[in-house]
Parts: sequence; structure tokens; C-alpha cells
Amino acid sequence: MIVISAASGALGRLVIESLRTRTTEVVAAVRDLERAPEGVPARRGDYDDPASLREAFDGAARLLLISSPELDTPRRIRQHLNAVTAAKEAGVGAVVFTSFLGAGDGATGMTEAYHATEQALISSGLPYTFLRHPFYSDAFVPRVVDGEITGSTGGRGLNTAFRSDLAEAAANVLTGEGHLGRAYDFTGPLWTHPEVAEALGVPYREVPDAGPGPMSWINAQIRAGLLEQQTDDLERVLGRPPVTSTWRISYGPKGPLVDFSTYCPLAGRVRKM
Ligand SMILES: NC(=O)c1ccc[n+]([C@@H]2O[C@H](COP(=O)([O-])OP(=O)(O)OC[C@H]3O[C@@H](n4cnc5c(N)ncnc54)[C@H](OP(=O)(O)O)[C@@H]3O)[C@@H](O)[C@H]2O)c1
Repeated sequence: MIVISAASGALGRLVIESLRTRTTEVVAAVRDLERAPEGVPARRGDYDDPASLREAFDGAARLLLISSPELDTPRRIRQHLNAVTAAKEAGVGAVVFTSFLGAGDGATGMTEAYHATEQALISSGLPYTFLRHPFYSDAFVPRVVDGEITGSTGGRGLNTAFRSDLAEAAANVLTGEGHLGRAYDFTGPLWTHPEVAEALGVPYREVPDAGPGPMSWINAQIRAGLLEQQTDDLERVLGRPPVTSTWRISYGPKGPLVDFSTYCPLAGRVRKM
């Protein structure tokens, strides 16, 4: 049996969808049973409630531990450690953790909670696989506004990947062999804002950052080239190349997650290309 935690979120739902076509028993662990995805049994599993996690993980041959969206780092670490302890106590066969690029060496800023969780899993003695995610393309694909694309990225590359590809990769790891004790650095194919603008036939304009905040920090990382790391881990686990952002917004969504109209008001015109 495979248990998926935080299964009511966007990623969890996609993983369950991908697993549903495979002959395997899947259980959704959710903090609110009313929000459980349809079609699979659900159990209550709240990262703030260790007892609920032990019950939710009971009997799992494999657990997909999807990282908490909590922004407060100490609380997020506590939540993840609750899950690791519960997995150990429930006798889970192996834990697949959705980590973040850089979490292997870095214990600062965005990577701190992921690093602490990886370390806790290693110390727990539980068999594990780390899926180190890049930023999700779904949130980064630029919009066409007033006939142009703007950005503060200096035209540098982004190695984002779509949730749908990361979900399929997670399903492959959960149902496949040879992944234990491994850490995958998942990166999507590099894309740039000017490249997307060119594909859509609209101009690109570099603009100053909107001001302090998470996006400004991320833009600085992009301008410094820190999102240009490339590995073939995602392609190898998927058994095919991951979807590129330019392809997805130029030719329309192939998966259910990306609402094309949200990301590109020129959808109608571009689709006819
Ligand atoms: N790499 C990236 O660019 C990126 C971007 C966004 C997020 N992330 C990380 O990836 C994770 C999955 O992404 P996503 O898109 O699926 O996020 P999402 O759609 O926001 O889903 C978050 C999930 O976490 C659940 N959750 C919140 N607090 C919980 C708790 N105390 N105990 C158990 N579950 C709890 C939510 O449950 P409810 O349905 O009850 O709210 C929901 O199922 C996020 O949680 C975040 O850690 C990564």
C-alpha cells in the first residue's frame, strides 16, 4: 500500500491520478477529510498531530511525504519531523520525500526545512528517496499583459518543471525499484522570458523588480544564474523528456493543471499556430 501525505494539494492530487492507472493500493492522507481527493480511501493525517500521522501511515509499504506549505521554518521542520517519527513508529517500508534543489548541502533560507528533513530521514534508518524539486513552472510561466511579456530575470534561464511531470516521476519512484537511498535533483529544461515572448510573437521588456519580497529574492537568484543548474535526473526517472515551458504555453496544456487562459490571454491565437 502507498500512502500519499498532503494528498488534497495540487501535487498530491496529480500523484494519485498518476498512480490510479497502476495496479497498486493508494491511500490519501489529508488533514481535512472533506478535502480528500475522490476515488481513493482517505485517512486523516495532520502534520501538527503526530497521533493522526501514525494512524494515517499504518501499513504503508511506501509513503510519499509531500512537504508542508507552512512558511514558518521552525514550525515546518517540526511538522516534517512529526511525519518522519510517525513513519518510523508505523513501520513504513520506505519514505519518498519531496525535497528542494540544494537541500543536500544547504541549511539556509528556503532549503533549511528540507535539509533538516533529509537529515532526519537519513538518521531515522528508514529507507528513503529524496526528490529534490525545482520551482514549479505552473507558477512561473509568464503572462502576456497588454501585448507584452515583462520580467526582472535578466533573460537568464529557469530550470522549473511542471507539477504534472514531477507527480509522474514520484509515481514512477513509488512503484519502481532501484530508487532507495538515492537523491534526485530534478530540473526542467531551461527556458527564458525572452524565449517565451518570441515563441508567442510578443515583445519582451525587462523591468525593475517590484520591490522587496519573495519574488524579488527569486528574481535575484535567477539573474545570478542560480536556476540554470541542469541534470538529467527527471528525464531518466520519467523515461521521456520533461515538458518545456515554451512548448506548453505555445501549444496548450496537455495536462489538467495548467489553465492556459490564466497564463496567456493570446491562447486562442497561439493555439492555431
Ligand atoms: N518547488 C516549488 O516551486 C513549490 C511551490 C509551491 C509549493 N511547494 C511545496 O510543495 C508542496 C506541494 O505543493 P502543492 O502545489 O501541492 O501545494 P498546495 O496545493 O498548496 O497543497 C498543500 C497541501 O498541504 C496540506 N497541508 C497544509 N497544512 C497541513 C498540515 N498541517 N498537515 C497535513 N497537510 C497539510 C494542504 O492541505 P489542505 O488541503 O487541507 O489545505 C494541501 O494538501 C507544498 O506544500 C510546498 O511545500 C513547492
